[in-house]
Parts: sequence; structure tokens; C-alpha cells
Amino acid sequence: MCGIVGYAGARPALGIVLDGLRRLEYRGYDSAGVAIVCDDELLTEKKAGKLANLEKVLSERAASNPEDCAASPIGIGDGTTGIGHTRWATHGGPTDRNAHPHQSPDGRVAVIHNGIIENFAKLRTELEDEGVEFASDTDTECAAHLLARALADLRAGGEADSPQLLAAAMRLVCQRLEGAFTLLAVDAGIPGAVVGARRNSPLVVGRGAGENYLASDVAAFIEHTRDAVELGQDQIVLITGDSIEITDFAGQPATGKDFHIDWDSSAAEKGGYDWFMLKEIEEQPQAIADTLLGRLTETGEIALDEVRLSEQDLRDVDKIFIVACGTAYHSGLVAKYAIEHWTRIPCEVELASEFRYRDPVLDRSTLIVVISQSGETMDTLMALRHAKEQKARVLAICNTNGSTIPRESDAVLYTHGGPEIAVASTKAFLTQLVACYLIGLHLAQVRGIKFADEVGAVVAQLQEMPGKLRELLDRIEPVRELARELKSEPTVLFIGRHVGYPVALEGALKLKELAYMHAEGFAAGELKHGPIALIDQGTPVICIVPSPVGRGMLHDKVVSNIQEVRARGARTIVIAEEGDEAVVRYADHLIYVPRTPTLLAPLVTTVPLQVLAAEIAAARGHDVDQPRNLAKSVTVE
Ligand code: F6R
Repeated sequence: MCGIVGYAGARPALGIVLDGLRRLEYRGYDSAGVAIVCDDELLTEKKAGKLANLEKVLSERAASNPEDCAASPIGIGDGTTGIGHTRWATHGGPTDRNAHPHQSPDGRVAVIHNGIIENFAKLRTELEDEGVEFASDTDTECAAHLLARALADLRAGGEADSPQLLAAAMRLVCQRLEGAFTLLAVDAGIPGAVVGARRNSPLVVGRGAGENYLASDVAAFIEHTRDAVELGQDQIVLITGDSIEITDFAGQPATGKDFHIDWDSSAAEKGGYDWFMLKEIEEQPQAIADTLLGRLTETGEIALDEVRLSEQDLRDVDKIFIVACGTAYHSGLVAKYAIEHWTRIPCEVELASEFRYRDPVLDRSTLIVVISQSGETMDTLMALRHAKEQKARVLAICNTNGSTIPRESDAVLYTHGGPEIAVASTKAFLTQLVACYLIGLHLAQVRGIKFADEVGAVVAQLQEMPGKLRELLDRIEPVRELARELKSEPTVLFIGRHVGYPVALEGALKLKELAYMHAEGFAAGELKHGPIALIDQGTPVICIVPSPVGRGMLHDKVVSNIQEVRARGARTIVIAEEGDEAVVRYADHLIYVPRTPTLLAPLVTTVPLQVLAAEIAAARGHDVDQPRNLAKSVTVE
């Protein structure tokens, strides 16, 4: 939520900051803004709406007044220190005045923020009582006023302008703030320095040659450097062109954790696709192959190196809770079927936002599996902390190295899916499924319920999945045609049983968030208990049919449910396994997927639903990558 970029170096900052914002726009697109330190001036521009609106204003500004920096001969395009922000609105509507940066009344200090300052109302009242006039409805503006005052107080106390003065002032501000925040700030009187602060919200440092970067996500600076530093909780970082200084909020020196980014910048480019989402759907065979890579020992056993829980810890587990949000929650719903089947350990799946505010019964023998692509989702993070307070052990499944959730967990299994830029999750979902399967198999193996050869057989099936997905994607065209047919429907329903039920939920979620259509997923057996009343003449019902092999009864039950909805006028779109002849006569549209064992079937049955949602959204003229009202990384509760 909200993308933040900072740059200090020798090159013009504006282009670098705007490029960074372009790569972070998935984090929020309600408004965008920049502040560039330019000689002894601070030049800002901000605009409601997508980044393109800001870019338009900036180019008009450049055309009408190429030297618009009042006190200097250089313009906004020339300053070599700057910050930029792309917003997902929390406090205050998505307007120009609420866009970041927020400034001190004299315009010399600029602040950008991601998160929520929870005590902002109290701070605002206090500042207003002292005569401060606010120019926006945001919580962030308090931080801008507080920073300007802290700088003024330090200067009045005899401190000379220096980058360290900026850091000292930021520390004073952070000591007054409650809640979650990443803040970046610049001061016109301290050119060449950007200060950042982090609590419960992401901030990474990019280490360049003669230049340094700050950003909410490495994607912002990956084209300039792959050397990064992960910051800890409650830290202040000060960058200039040739230095990175980290302290805690009390001013004590602190260290970050160096890491190298192992994907290249093209991974965060569209690479010829119209939308990132379509590219990410296409990347799924490789993504799940990468999740599997290196997880199998020579003897066919599963090795999960990053799981820092001892085998004894895993043997002691008597209950599992999977906790996540949205699509990640759906992957957990699938995992429950596999984990309970393979391990015989009771496994509950819960929405993080619900888990956090009830009183779950947890103890040291409870294993909490938190699933999060971004590793920053606030609901999931709070659920994790809630579980840890009760001594449960936490294992994270995450796609983002060094993010908060894996850092606070007892163990982590990274999915290695590569950057997911489109707001709607696709390859993250499939890689989360694979990670869950691996954890289930590992638990079964450690607890002696499955032997290496049995586990090896499932792993071999998993290893066939990239090829099956490739095959499916190569013949996905009919789904695109179907999308054109369905694009004007008022409602689409999805039904499935067993692991097909979470797939139905995921298909409906994708359609809602991308196409803004009414869509609902149901357990097929539940239809007769109420939802079947929704079926009218021609209502499209997408039916996820299990394999007829092995669990024939399940298959037959779903086929009966298809007949029930057809009898009431539904138009059925059936997703079934190749060679399943039994469904042909009940399908108005039939989409075959490659043959796959039941528990692994969501890896293939989800894919047509992803393509369908993206194509319907495109056909309805929506922005597939940036659906309205959403953001990729949800760092507020
Ligand atoms: C939907 C989607 C969201 C996320 C959810 C959790 O397409 O992407 O529902 O799955 O916000 O996000 P992470 O996995 O980052 O915790």
C-alpha cells in the first residue's frame, strides 16, 4: 500500500524517481507526487489519479517554464536528490490536496508516507492548538509539521545543517508517532540527503555506486543496482550519494542485512504482454518449477532448508492453523485437504483478519502456517504476532525475501515465484499451493506417516506440473473467446467440491476484482441449501469437475449438481479433466485441463479462471493490472 522511492546521488533525480514509481504503482494508484531538492529549493508536484496524470503535469510544467526553480538556474528535472510517492488512500480522499508529498508551511520540508499514523488525530489537534494550519486531510501531514518543527528546534539549539541533522529530526518525530509507517523526507536546506524511517511497513535500501536508493520494494531500483540492504524494525536510515547510515529510533548505530537481488530487471517489465497479469499467468510453469527446485534430496526425500524448526518440533505438532488473506487464504483452503489427508493432523484455515480478533486456542504444539505473497499484509502480520504471543510456532510461506512476515516467523519457505506486479495474484497462488504441498509432505515424512517412496511419488507428480501447465496455456485460446461471450453478463457463479471448492472461490474473486462483476463461488453441495435460487434462465455457472479417476464418487456428485443447475436454466461452463466423457452432454462450454491427481488439480483448474477474468476485464475496458480501489500490498488493517 503506497509506493515510496528516494534517491540521492549525482544524476538528475526526477527521472529515476518517476521510473521507480512506475514500478511501484501496483502498490496504489490514487495519486502520485514528487519532491526534488534543487539547489536551495524544494520543487514539488502532485496529482490525483494514476502516475500518468503526474507525468502529464510535469511535462506541461517543463514545456511552459523550463527553468522553474525560482532561486536557481536549474529546473525540477535537474535536482539530484528526490523522493516520490504513489498513494493508496487511507486518511483523506484521493484528491490533489491529499496527494503526497506533504510539506511544511514554508515549503522547505517534504514528507511521504506509507502506513497509518494511529495517533494522528491527537497530534493534529495539538498542532492546530499551536496555530498550525493543515492543507490536507491526511495523517501524514502531521509528520511533515513535526519534522519541520524538530529541524527548527535543533537549528535554534545551534545545530548546523547536515544530513545527520535531518536524521536527528526524524528520530524525534518517530518517537511521537504510533502505528505503522515508512516515512521519507527531504529538506531544501540539506541537499544531497534523504532520510527514511520504518516501523511495521516496508523499506529497503539500494546500494549504488556514488548513489543510493530507498524504496518500499526493490523493484523500484532493480535497474540501477541489485545490492540491497534490508532494514530492521524501528530504524532510521540516512542516505547520501556515498553513504548509508542506519540507527535505531534512540540514535544508536544499527545495522541492516545486506542481500543480493537474484532476479533481473526484465522480470519487472511487461516483456511484450499487454498486461503484467497475462505475463505472470504465462510464467506459472516456470514459477512452480522454481518453487520445487532444490527441494528434493538424492534419496527422494524432501529437504526444506529454510524451515528452521527441528524435526522434533514438527513431530510435536498436534494442530495446524493456516492463516492468510484473499487469494493466499484460498491456497490455504486447498492445503487443508492435502495436509489432513497426508499427515492426519487437524488443520484449520482462517482469514487473518478474523483470527487476529478472536481467541483461538493455541500453544507450543500448534503450528501456524501464514501465507503471504508480499510478506507485508498487515492482517496476516498481526495474526502472526497474536499467535506468537501464545507461544505457537509460525512457519511462513512467502514470495518476498526479507519482508516482515518471514522475518518475524520461526521458519520460512520462500516460493521463489519472482516479482508479481499485477495486483491480482496468479503465479503467487500456484506457487503457494506447491509450497503447501511440500510442507504437507515434509510433515508426513518427518512423522513417519509417509515413506520416502510415497513422498517421492507425489513429488514426481508435482514435477510433471510445469509441463502440464505449459500444455494447458498453449491451448487457452477458447477461454479468450468465452470471455468475449460472457463480458456483459450481470452475474457469474462458480461451483466445486473438495479442492474444487476453493478454486471456485478463487475464480469468483478474480472476476470480482478485475471485471467488477457480481461473482460468487459455492461448494456445489451447498447449492440446494439456498444459492440455487440465484439460477435464472441463462445464468452462467462455471463448474469445476474433479477427476473421475480415484474419487469417482466425488466426480459423480458434481456431475449431478451440474444437471441440477442446468435443469433450472443455467448455462454451464465445465472445467473437467481430459478424457472425461461423462460431462460432455451437460456442458454448454467445455474446457479440458490435463489429467492431474485430485489433490494437485487446483494447479491446473485455476488457470482458465485466471485467464477468463483477465480477458473479461480487458473486454470491459478495465485496467487489468490495476483494478479500482485495490493495491497489491495491503499494509493497513
Ligand atoms: C487477489 C489478491 C489478494 C491477496 C491478499 C493477500 O488477487 O492478490 O487477495 O492474495 O491481499 O496478499 P498477500 O499474499 O501479499 O498477503
